[in-house]
Amino acid sequence: MLKKRTLVVALVLALVLAVGLSACKQATPTPSAVPAEQMGYSEALTKAMEAAKAGDAQAAQKALQTALDAAQSDADKAFVNELLEDVEKGDLDEVVEDIARYLGTESAPTLAELLDKAMDAAKAGDADKAKEELTEALEVAQSDADKAFVNELLEDVEKGDLDEVVEDIARYLGTESAPTLAELLDKAMDAAKAGDADKAKEELTEALEVAQSDADKAFVNELLEDVEKGDLDEVAEDIERYLEQQASQLPSDEVARAQQLYTQLGCFACHGAEYEGNQGPIIVGLPVQSIIAQVRNGAPEGEMPAFDQNTVSDADLELLAKYLNSLTLADTATVIPDAVRSHLEMAYDALKAGDKAGVETHLQAALQAAQEAGAGEGLVKTLDDMVEDLEEEDWQADIEIHLDILLGR
Ligand code: HEC
Repeated sequence: MLKKRTLVVALVLALVLAVGLSACKQATPTPSAVPAEQMGYSEALTKAMEAAKAGDAQAAQKALQTALDAAQSDADKAFVNELLEDVEKGDLDEVVEDIARYLGTESAPTLAELLDKAMDAAKAGDADKAKEELTEALEVAQSDADKAFVNELLEDVEKGDLDEVVEDIARYLGTESAPTLAELLDKAMDAAKAGDADKAKEELTEALEVAQSDADKAFVNELLEDVEKGDLDEVAEDIERYLEQQASQLPSDEVARAQQLYTQLGCFACHGAEYEGNQGPIIVGLPVQSIIAQVRNGAPEGEMPAFDQNTVSDADLELLAKYLNSLTLADTATVIPDAVRSHLEMAYDALKAGDKAGVETHLQAALQAAQEAGAGEGLVKTLDDMVEDLEEEDWQADIEIHLDILLGR
């Protein structure tokens, strides 16, 4: 009995001592037995932030002194000293912001986490809880756009419009992590290759929502139509080409450099200022390696000069070749008369059927139609070269590339 009482007395004494000690160490006594250093720092900062928010400079200063005593690292001490200076200057807003940011990055939940909680609360119809989370989110929000967004959500909560809140947060969080157009198209391509029309349609429907430009939307819509028609091979091929082109798109400074090279080296004189061809053929969309080889070797009979390393470096030539490869017929000033197009389409079908004689017939017909229609010199030269290419061993691959380019496939 006696022992127990002694123990209690000792405990109380120890507690008093601990509180007394921390009171000596700190400006404000802390009401718990947790070591002052640990509990003090962020708590004191939070207090300082609240005081600063309330416009109470004195209380803020006091709390910051506490924080300064509790600060362990030099960085923390420097941070608090800066805050103290801001208080001296009367810059309480700055203090609030800096502490909020500090606490936010330190351990506080992120904006996304708080929004997620607010969404859950709104879903559950708990307006109070949603408001609480959003109020915290407002403190954590950094950019003006984020703050405006959270404020709008708070207004909706006030209006009792919890469904709206759920939707808006879902959309906000969704866009943060939503798959990109390229990712969705890639999945749709895999599905199409696997012959799974339903899955392809699903991915494409999502892709349609993600697509931003009119061109992208039109492209996805076309793919959806092809899925409806059961044309899955076409879908897979079109997506593959699209993704390849995306991957080969150059940053604008490289495009500018490539265009400069095209002019400086004089390619434009024979291949057209707008890539429509001239005495030389249309050269957009060709494989990078074949462009490089052609430029280094030139053309037989001196129709095209060879360009050596002194004239154009390997790096520059590769850039130029990549750029030309990234262009399509639509980027050129080429006009293909209807009569020419239909012969090219027939040549394409013949090619697919392995019918070389048919390819020759239709290419000859296309060439003749181009001449009769007064088509551009570049197109005529391109078709003429294609007829000649038939004599080469790997005519099939060569003709296919050129037909793909001319038919925009
Ligand atoms: C003096 C005119 C002339 C100049 C300058 C010229 N080319 Fe050519 N180029 C031609 C001609 C003509 C052909 C077709 C050769 C043939 O019929 O075999 C050709 C063919 C090509 C081909 C092959 C096309 C195909 O269908 O396979 C490429 C690629 C090419 N040129 C790129 C370039 C580039 C890049 C430049 C600038 C660095 C350039 N050319 C400068 C005249 C020129």
